[in-house]
Amino acid sequence: MGNIDIKNAPVGVFDSGVGGLTVAREIMRQMPNERIVYFGDTARVPYGSKSKATIIRYSRQIINFLKTKEVKAIVVACNTASAYALEELRGELDIPIIGVVKPGAEVAANITKNGKIGVIGTVGTIESKLYNKCIREHNESAEVFGTPCPLFVPLVEEGWINDTVTMEVAKRYLAPLQDTGIDTLILGCTHYPLLRNLIGEIMGNDVTLVNPAYETAVKLSKMLEESGIKCDAPVKARAPHEFFVSDAAERFMSFANSILPYDVDTTKVVSIEEY
Ligand code: DGL
Repeated sequence: MGNIDIKNAPVGVFDSGVGGLTVAREIMRQMPNERIVYFGDTARVPYGSKSKATIIRYSRQIINFLKTKEVKAIVVACNTASAYALEELRGELDIPIIGVVKPGAEVAANITKNGKIGVIGTVGTIESKLYNKCIREHNESAEVFGTPCPLFVPLVEEGWINDTVTMEVAKRYLAPLQDTGIDTLILGCTHYPLLRNLIGEIMGNDVTLVNPAYETAVKLSKMLEESGIKCDAPVKARAPHEFFVSDAAERFMSFANSILPYDVDTTKVVSIEEY
C-alpha cells in the first residue's frame, strides 16, 4: 500500500460483542476522519469467563478476518482480550495493535493522589492482573484493588442502565472498594462506561473514574500520528464504517444505534471459525 492508501485504510476494532462499541464511539468522536471496521463476536460472547487459551484462539481468528479488510491498525476493544491475548498476538502482526488496558492504567497511575487505585472488570481481566502490572510500570508504589463485577455486562445489555436493580447490584459489588480509600477507579470492562453515572453516584465525588475507552482513542490518535498513517481526508471523502458480527446481527444493530453517533444500517454475519 502507498502512504496515501494506508492513511485511508480503516482501523480494525474488535470485541466479544457489543461492548467494544463504547471504544468505537470514542474513536468516532475524537477522530471523525477515521473509518472503522468493527467485529463483535456475538456468537461466542462472553469472553470474561473463558480461559486464556480460548481468548487467544478467538482473537487470532478475528485478527485474521480483520486483515482481509486491509486494516492499517487494530484496536483490541475488549478488556479481557487485551489482558489475555494482546501480547501473544502482537508478534504475529506487521501493523500496529493496541488494547484498552494500558491506556487506562497509565492515566490512572498518573492521576491518583493517594496511590490507591480500584479496578473493576470481568473475572478474566481481574484474574489476569494486567491492570496491576501496567499501573505499577507508571507508579511503582501504587496499591491496586481489583473487583470483578460480572453481572454488569448482562444488566447493560438488558438496557437497565438507570435502574434500581442495577443500583443495588452495584452497591454490593462496590462496597468492599469503598472501604479501601481509593481515589481513582478504572472502569475496566467495555460495558462499564455506560454505567458511569450510577457508579459515580455510589463512589462519590472524591473518586475519579477512568474510562479506558476514551483513553484508548486518545492513544490511538497519537499512535496513528506517530506512524504517519492518520487519515487527513475530509469526512465526506471516506467510505462508511463497516460492522460485522458472528451472530444475531439485528440485535447488535439496535444496540449499536442506541449508543453510536452514527447510523448503522447494515451488519454482516461472518463465520469466524473459518478464519
Ligand atoms: N468485552 C468484555 C470486556 O471488556 C466484556 C464482555 C465479555 O465478557 O465478553 O472484558
